[in-house]
Amino acid sequence: MSSTTEIGQQPERAEPLTDALARPLHDLRISLLDRCNYRCPYCMPASEFPDDYGFLARDDRLSHAEILKIAAVAVRGGVSKIRLTGGEPLLDKSLPLLVAGIARLPGVEDLALTTNGELLSRYAAALANAGLHRVTVSLDSLDPDVFCLMSGGRGDLEKVLAGIDSAAAAGLIPVKINVVVQRGVNDHTVLDLLDHFRGTGHIVRLIEFMDVGNRNGWRMDQVVPSRELLASIRDRWALRPIGRSYPGEVARRYEYLDGSGELGFISSVTEPFCGACSRARLSADGTLYTCLFATHGTDLREPLRNGASDDELADILSKIWLQRADRYSELRRPELAETHALSKVEMYRIGG
Ligand code: GTP
Ligand code: 5AD
Ligand code: SF4
Ligand code: SF4
Repeated sequence: MSSTTEIGQQPERAEPLTDALARPLHDLRISLLDRCNYRCPYCMPASEFPDDYGFLARDDRLSHAEILKIAAVAVRGGVSKIRLTGGEPLLDKSLPLLVAGIARLPGVEDLALTTNGELLSRYAAALANAGLHRVTVSLDSLDPDVFCLMSGGRGDLEKVLAGIDSAAAAGLIPVKINVVVQRGVNDHTVLDLLDHFRGTGHIVRLIEFMDVGNRNGWRMDQVVPSRELLASIRDRWALRPIGRSYPGEVARRYEYLDGSGELGFISSVTEPFCGACSRARLSADGTLYTCLFATHGTDLREPLRNGASDDELADILSKIWLQRADRYSELRRPELAETHALSKVEMYRIGG
C-alpha cells in the first residue's frame, strides 16, 4: 500500500483524471461474480435470493481477459489501487490466474481482495504467489449463533478463522476484518470480537449498516453510529485517533494505547466521506458505476465485445469520470432511504 505516489506520477500514464467535483480516479473495485455461498441478511437475504435465483450466467459475466483489459485501461487512467470483490470472489476457482494478470500491470500499487473467508484457507498461498498484496475478510461476529444468523445460516466460523490465519501466514497482510454492525443483531458482540483480534496485527473495521440496494430492509434505527460504538470501546480500552494511511481513506483509524494494534470506523451514514471518493466500481456483467448507491451505470461489455480498442475504452472511461458528480451519502435523507425512493443497485452486484 502506498501513500506517497501521486496520481499521474507514472510516466506512461495520462494526466490524472478528475471528476466534476475535482476528485481523482484512484481505485477500481471489481466485482467478479454476483453469486455468494453466504446469505447475509443485510446483503443477500435468503428469502429474496434462493439458490436458483437468476444470477448472471457465465457468458453474461466478463471473462478474465475482458476484466484485465478494463483494468489495464483504468490503470493507464490513473488507478493504482484495485480491489477484487463479489459476491464471493473465491467462488471463481481460477482467481489466482486473474490476480497474476492484474498484479503484473505496471502501476498497480495496492491489490486487495474482499472475501467472506469461508474458502480462504484453500486459496491463500496461491493468491499470495500470484501477487495479491492483502485480504479483507467480512466477519460480523465471533458468537456462533450471531455469526450463523448473519451469514444466513451458511457460514462456518472455524473455517473463516482458519482462513484468516492462512492469509496472514501467506503474507497477505495487513489482514483487515470488516464488521457490519446492526443494532440489536451483533452490536453486543463487538467488544468480544475486538478483544479477540487485539495484538494479532489484524485490523478490525466497524462499518455502519448502510442502505445499499433496496432489498435489505434498511432502517436508520438499525444503524449504530460510530461515535456511540467508540464511546463504549473507550469504556474498555484507551484509544487515540491516528491519521489516514493514504489520501481518501474511508476508515477513521484509532490505535490502542497499550500497543495492541489499530481499529477503524467506516461511518458512511453518520459521517459521509464522499468529498474524497475516488472509487469506480465494475460489476460482474461489465457495468461501470461511479457510486455505491448508483441507480444506473455504463455498459462496458458491449463495446468490449464489439472490439473496442484500448484507446476507445479509455475514452469511454474518461467521459464517465469527467462528468461524475455522485455524493449520495452526503445527500442521503434517511426518510427517503427507508421508503426505497431510489432503485439502487444491490451490494452483491456492485461489490462491497
Ligand atoms: P482499504 O483499502 O483497506 O482501506 O479498504 P477500504 O477502505 O476501501 O474499505 P473496504 O473495501 O474494505 O470497504 C469496507 C466497507 O466500506 C465496504 O464494504 C462498504 O461498506 C464501505 N465502503 C467502501 N467504499 C465505500 C464508498 O465509496 N462509499 C460508501 N458509502 N461506503 C464505502
Ligand atoms: N452496509 C454496510 N456494509 C455492507 N456490506 C454488504 N452490505 C452492506 C451494508 N448494507 C459489506 C460487507 C462486506 C462487503 C462485501 O460489503 O460487510 O465487508
Ligand atoms: Fe456474500 Fe459478502 Fe453479501 Fe455476505 S456481504 S452475502 S458474504 S457478498
Ligand atoms: Fe463515493 Fe458514492 Fe460512497 Fe459517496 S456514497 S463515498 S460518492 S461511493
